Amino acid sequence: MDKKKIVFSGIQPTGNIHLGNYLGAVRNWVREQAEKVNYFCIVDLHSLTVPQDPDNLRFQTRSLAALYLACGIDPEVSTIFIQSHVTAHAEGCWLLNCITPLGWLQRMTQFKDKSAKQESVLTGLLDYPVLMAGDIIFYDADEVPVGEDQKQHVELARDIAQRFNALYETDFFVVPQPVISKVGARVMGLDDPTVKMSKSLSDKRGHAIRLLDEPDEIMYSFKRAVTDSGREIRFSDEPERAGVNNLLGIYQAITGKDKTAVEADFAGARGYGDLKVGVAELVIETLRPIQARYKELMDDAAELDRLLAHGAQQARAVSQPKVDEMKRIMGLVLPG
Ligand code: AMP
Ligand code: TRP
Repeated sequence: MDKKKIVFSGIQPTGNIHLGNYLGAVRNWVREQAEKVNYFCIVDLHSLTVPQDPDNLRFQTRSLAALYLACGIDPEVSTIFIQSHVTAHAEGCWLLNCITPLGWLQRMTQFKDKSAKQESVLTGLLDYPVLMAGDIIFYDADEVPVGEDQKQHVELARDIAQRFNALYETDFFVVPQPVISKVGARVMGLDDPTVKMSKSLSDKRGHAIRLLDEPDEIMYSFKRAVTDSGREIRFSDEPERAGVNNLLGIYQAITGKDKTAVEADFAGARGYGDLKVGVAELVIETLRPIQARYKELMDDAAELDRLLAHGAQQARAVSQPKVDEMKRIMGLVLPG
């Protein structure tokens, strides 16, 4: 049997995850978690590269971990942990800093965009991709699932890995590959079906379904979903029917039925109103067990801490020896 591929996913504990994230990404990770060796890392150190409210950051970090677990990330199968719990990340970042040319960081598109928008640019923001490179290469990750916006950072991780290997004439670091998620279920905004449902717009009422939204709020957002003036419920590529297509797409992604079967389910509907309520009810029922498990974990701090301590321990067992060996290669004296 081939060796399982190692996959490293980094998730910032900021912004609410929504139905698009769930149907397009998280649900697939859950289904496929046994096929690969997966690390799910809540990258709290990365979030510090822009100013954060401490209490809010603490809450968001635990909340996101609980939510991923509630979605079905199984801590016995995958490793889920908080980045700052594993000190090898920050420690190893320093070592990588010392082999990474400044120019490589200054030309990162995200740094240029973000720093242009801020009056005072923090050093951490510039260094962000080096920390990210460490996340990936300290686990010998083969694959890094990312959106298009993060591809340049994974390419930098490749450059850093290759530079280390060349400088020290070794094949110590695995050179990772970015994996741009194929658009499986692409969920569009309910208020505007021409744009992707997105985290940055998720606080705008009626745009996104956030995984922790109450049933009433979910129903509200679906009832207000933008459709067209027709009444026929069928899949379509026509731009003006994008709203109905999106609703049917969500229904299809959840039920796993083929298009004909989905259309048949709505054959008796009296119009788009029935479709909206039907999809809303299905989404509410899909999220109900996730929300219940989330609440259980958030109410049982000891259990959540236990699961995260277990994840951190597994992560440490892989990355700390890697960083120690890196120190040795670079000429540092290891403690006796
Ligand atoms: P992001 O929210 O951009 O950090 O994306 C996290 C993951 O969710 C990525 O794998 C995206 O491809 C996926 N994703 C984000 N938004 C959507 C969407 N509207 N529909 C489907 N997948 C999405
Ligand atoms: N920079 C990524 C983002 O903003 C998060 C991240 C940090 C990451 N470390 C990572 C993603 C390692 C993949 C692998 O989305």
